[in-house]
Amino acid sequence: MKNIFICLFLLCGLITAKSQTLKSPDGNLVMNFKLDNEHSPVYSLDYKGKEVIKDSRMGFVLRPALDYSKGFRLLSSDTASADIVWKPVWGQYSEIRDNHNELLVSLLQEKTGWILNIRFRLFNDGLGFRYEFPVQSNLRHFTIENEVTEFCMTGNHKAFWLPGDYDTNEYPTTTSLLSEVAALTPEVRKEGLAAKSFTPNLAVQTPLMMKSSDGLYINIHEAALVDFPAMCLNLDDDAFVLSSHLTPDKNGARGYIQTGSVSPWRTIVVSDDARDILASCLILNLNEPCKIEDTSWIKPVKYVGVWWEYFIGGGSTWSYTDTQDIIIGKTDYTKLHPHGHHGANTGHVKEYIDFAAKHGFDAVLVEGWNEGWEDNYAYSKERIYSFTKAYPDFDVKGLHEYAAGKGVKIIMHHETTSSVADYEKQLHDAFRFMNDNGYDAVKTGYVGPIIPRSEYHDGQWMVNHYNYVAETAAKYRIMVNSHEAVRPTGMCRTYPNWIAQESARGTEFESFNGNNPDHTTILPFTRLMGGPMDYTPGIFEGDLSVYGSNKAKLSTTLVKQLALYVTMYSPLQMAADLYQNYEKYPDAFQFIKDVAVDWDNTYILEAEPGDYVTIARKAKGKDEWFVGGITDENSREAVIDFSFLPKGKKYIATIYADGKDADWRNNPKDYVISTKKVTCKTILKQKLAPSGGVAISVREAGRQ
Ligand code: NOJ
Ligand code: CA
Repeated sequence: MKNIFICLFLLCGLITAKSQTLKSPDGNLVMNFKLDNEHSPVYSLDYKGKEVIKDSRMGFVLRPALDYSKGFRLLSSDTASADIVWKPVWGQYSEIRDNHNELLVSLLQEKTGWILNIRFRLFNDGLGFRYEFPVQSNLRHFTIENEVTEFCMTGNHKAFWLPGDYDTNEYPTTTSLLSEVAALTPEVRKEGLAAKSFTPNLAVQTPLMMKSSDGLYINIHEAALVDFPAMCLNLDDDAFVLSSHLTPDKNGARGYIQTGSVSPWRTIVVSDDARDILASCLILNLNEPCKIEDTSWIKPVKYVGVWWEYFIGGGSTWSYTDTQDIIIGKTDYTKLHPHGHHGANTGHVKEYIDFAAKHGFDAVLVEGWNEGWEDNYAYSKERIYSFTKAYPDFDVKGLHEYAAGKGVKIIMHHETTSSVADYEKQLHDAFRFMNDNGYDAVKTGYVGPIIPRSEYHDGQWMVNHYNYVAETAAKYRIMVNSHEAVRPTGMCRTYPNWIAQESARGTEFESFNGNNPDHTTILPFTRLMGGPMDYTPGIFEGDLSVYGSNKAKLSTTLVKQLALYVTMYSPLQMAADLYQNYEKYPDAFQFIKDVAVDWDNTYILEAEPGDYVTIARKAKGKDEWFVGGITDENSREAVIDFSFLPKGKKYIATIYADGKDADWRNNPKDYVISTKKVTCKTILKQKLAPSGGVAISVREAGRQ
């Protein structure tokens, strides 16, 4: 049902430099725009009468030296509003309301005669604004030296941040006051594992989550990152002024702009209730509608894979030739890997296909299937991987037939090690190969520095690459899950075949130096603001020393791993552990088998960044609900209010809870499964262990 209501008011005419006010539809947010003494565009934002953003400057500095942020005159100003409902192909909600008021100001820089437009959209949950560069006779293209946009905070907020970095977001999140970021940054930088290029100034990444001392939750990010570099935020810790820091190219330029284009939206989501931040659809609403006409082939996916075995130190390798080298140090891996050292061998993949078919998974990811893994240091070679040539022990055709016979798909893997120019050369052949062999989804990877151009992962050139891959994949009806790509900005609305991204520290880090117990209580407020994450939860065997050399231990209880399927929203969910570990705990595994990956509705029940998250969701098109609750290192009591259930019916809840003595440090596998009759009036108080969780499935009483 579409309820479209758009009205437009024109306020053209004689316009002075007086400030202009825009209100959100519910009146809680008020945005002010004006030109200051230097005739610079300036905005501010209030929420329920409290200042959120103080007067903040806007505009650009261009190359060669030209200040494009001062000396403007207001030419015209238009307002509009919209209230529409649209249906995403997949998502946390089957319908999303886009209700906003808009102000479009057109500015003329007197000295140059150039026009700059700024479009503001104010929703009940926040503000978005973008720069628009209209086609004009004396301005065809320009180069950005710097973006001036400021976000002037009202005080020394608590911030959940990653250090500024042009290449990676695989850092643990640090929680501190804004004033402490500078002192903590050098230590925090050491935690990023992938190849990094630090921002020269003191900066943090977006999405940046903040909380003010008087209880306002503020989230800054961007939406619709197209043909533009990604934005970090410079920090001025005296005045708490955050300002845009665009990722440069290798020559230091921060964007090559052709007029007739727009910048990404700068977004500020605000509320006095943390739950509203998680419920916000502002970033999706600011992206363009779906550009793919027939989306019937785009389907949420639950998958298993030949993957975790590469991380646990058990001797399984991506590379085929390493099969010769079965004894490493003192460990003879032949015993641990009866099918050989090379993970992607036909026999082993068949085991995963059988397991997927038996337990109702849609797909099996296979990494290490293709030529090129012997020497995966992209720096030294021009082309390293082939995306059309399989290793001799991986039977592409045979496996496709075997999987198809069992109703299972194989997920393609394209690790590029950032040999991006070469990947673009191979792209069409690679996608045709996928079409020919029955693959409908690819996991891409961008480990290491970008060659041969020495661009940054988050720069304009790479942003265009990721978008090009998603767009091209859509033409081949292929879904994309990109790893190590720029953080998402809601582009999955426009290209819903871009089904998930990594772009943060995922479960793989549990096998390196670990994730903090509060990690997944922060990610929904940061990384997930831009779109779903391929977090790859579901590790039941958290003590990796059982495999031999790896001494790492998971930072969660087993039940928290279950809860992540609900709290970490994604239409692409992996059951990441070795299948043998699921066979050991079939009762707990049942939750992973049952949990939905697409939703009609989402209810954020409890949330506090860095502390806890409890979410209930209704499965798409089904009378089934799933609840996930997680906590940080502190044990807590979750209060689960079932009022999201329809009235007048009885339901059975299956509750997967941490056992009495569960603790992520020494007793992660202690769990209890029980059932309970519930109705919309039930309020369940459930204890969560330190770094523990609760996972609940709910179905109507009397139904199997
Ligand atoms: C890093 C990715 O995040 C991981 O999932 C993948 O297995 C490796 N790169 C190899 O491509
Ligand atoms: Ca990664």
